[in-house]
Parts: sequence; C-alpha cells; structure tokens
Amino acid sequence: MSFPQTRLRRLRRTPALRRLVAETRLGVDDLVAPLFVREGIDEPVPVPSLPGVVQHSRESLRKEVAELVDLGIDAVILFGVPATKDPEGSGASDPDGIVQVALRDLRDDLGDRVVLMADLCIDEYTDHGHCGLVTPDGRVDNDATLEVYGEVAIAQAGAGADICAPSGMMDGQVLAIRDALDEEGHEDVAILAYAAKYASALYGPFRDAVDVSIADGGDRTAYQQDWANAREAMAEIREDVGEGADMIMVKPAMTYLDVIARARAEVDVPIAAYHVSGEYAMVHAAAERGWIDGDAVALEQITAVKRAGADMVLTYFARALAERLQ
Ligand code: PBG
Repeated sequence: MSFPQTRLRRLRRTPALRRLVAETRLGVDDLVAPLFVREGIDEPVPVPSLPGVVQHSRESLRKEVAELVDLGIDAVILFGVPATKDPEGSGASDPDGIVQVALRDLRDDLGDRVVLMADLCIDEYTDHGHCGLVTPDGRVDNDATLEVYGEVAIAQAGAGADICAPSGMMDGQVLAIRDALDEEGHEDVAILAYAAKYASALYGPFRDAVDVSIADGGDRTAYQQDWANAREAMAEIREDVGEGADMIMVKPAMTYLDVIARARAEVDVPIAAYHVSGEYAMVHAAAERGWIDGDAVALEQITAVKRAGADMVLTYFARALAERLQ
C-alpha cells in the first residue's frame, strides 16, 4: 500500500512510549482517604463489608493519618460514629463530638501538612438514620435541617476543619453553611458540596461502617437524586456553585462518569468524585473469588474517574494506590 496507513499501535509498543503519551495520570495527590472514627473504643474495629477498612479509635486514626501523609496523601475526610444517637443528631455539632475531637488531634499532630475535610451530615448521629430532622409525619424538614447544618459547620471549623463537605442534599445547604461559617469568622473554611449525590444502592457497606439503618425501612429518595437524571445533576451543581461552593462532588463515581464529564464541561471549580463503599466492596468481593485482579481493576477504575474529569477522587483504595504509586 502506498498511502499512509494509520498506525495507532506504534505508540503502544513499549511501556516508556505508553507513559510518554498517557493522557491521564493518577497521582497520590489526587487521592482523598475516607476514614471512620468511633467514639469510646480503644482498638480499631474492622468493617466486614469493607475489607481493610476499620472504625478507628482516636489513637489508631492519628497513626493512620500520619502514615497516609508520609505516603504523600494530602487530604482525608472524616466520618464519625458516636457512642449515642438521638433524634436531632446532636453529636454532630457538639464541640466534644467525636469528629471534632479527632480534627483537633490531627491538627495538633500534623499542622498544615494535611487537608482535613469533615463530612457534614447528621445521619451518623440520628437515631432514625435520616440526614435531616424528621417531622412528626415522617418527612425530612429541609429548612429546619439547614439551621442544624450551620451549627455542625461551626463546630467542625472551630475544631480545625479546612473543608466542610455537606452530604445531606438539602436545598440551600451550601448558602446556609457559608453564612454560618462567615458569621463566626470562619471565612477561610472552604465548602466541598456533595452537589450531585444520587440515592444509590451502593452505600450499603458505608452504612455498616457508621452503624446507620434508616427507620421503618425508609430510604433517601426524597432528598438524594434519582439515578435516572443527569440534567438535574447540572441544576444541583449550578445551584451549589451559585451558593458559594468552592468545589463540587459527584457521587458515586463509576455509574456517573457521564455526570462527571458534563460537570467538567460546565463549571470551573475543582471537581471531586466519590468512589463509594459499594464500588470498593464489589472489586474486593470479585477479587477474593479470584474472578478479577483487584489491584488492576482498582487502578483502572480510579484512573477512569480522573479521565472523566474529576480533579480528585475519594476512595477506600487511597492507601493501597498510594503504596503502589510510590
Ligand atoms: C451521608 C453519607 C453517605 C455516604 C457518604 N456520606 C451515606 C448515605 O448517603 O446514605 C456514603 C459513602 C459510601 O458509600 O462510601 N453522611
């Protein structure tokens, strides 16, 4: 043949050539490690549906975060498991609540070497398991919940959080939190809005990790998004950016790569994606059976999330990937 034939395989011939032309690079500094800290325990407690993940004690959390920072991970996001729960989720805004105590520990230990994010929600702290206050007729009360979120934000910021990450999907939550933070002089605390958070069936292992079950067989479909919708996700994202979100999140990750890509095309703020507990558990379960190579699939999936447009990925694989990417 005399005409030039397209030879895309030329640049795939050696590992060095492939690295040279790689369009997406996953770095340790793209990873955010989600961590659980439980009140009133002395030893870490494993979470059976999340192999390798534990509910940390205060001490074991300090050790883990110091090691993650040494591995090059810049940020962690904390979830608290309180010793007692009540209808208002009061442990979430208690200055001595478990996440606040843990934030102070980590700031004391590590100063500005680590970015401390705090998930801002009350479902881990409420006895009914909902992300907001529940009315006598069983609805989640949007506007009453916003006041509570403001108090949680102030407690987290006061304890040293760099970033509050509201995950409750109440309308107006970013604005309410921004106002509350600013009023208390926490203008420098940033907001990472879980903007497009779907009512996904992939959160099951997380709920084991935080001992949450939703009362009366309920679910979160009245506040989290319907997974049929992508345009609506853009409305959520625009709304949150308009209210002052410094960064936005899409969650889960793999089932919503289209949403990540659309968000990347539409907004300029940094985008996070959360590779959630069910996504992690599926990879582990299949790998345990020898059906897939778990390490390879983890790297492929998290790289794909970045390729779709995320700037950072929250993932339970953070430590394993950081060790591998050294
Ligand atoms: C709510 C919250 C949830 C997750 C993060 N924040 C659970 C939910 O919405 O029910 C899930 C994360 C995961 O599955 O890894 N505080």
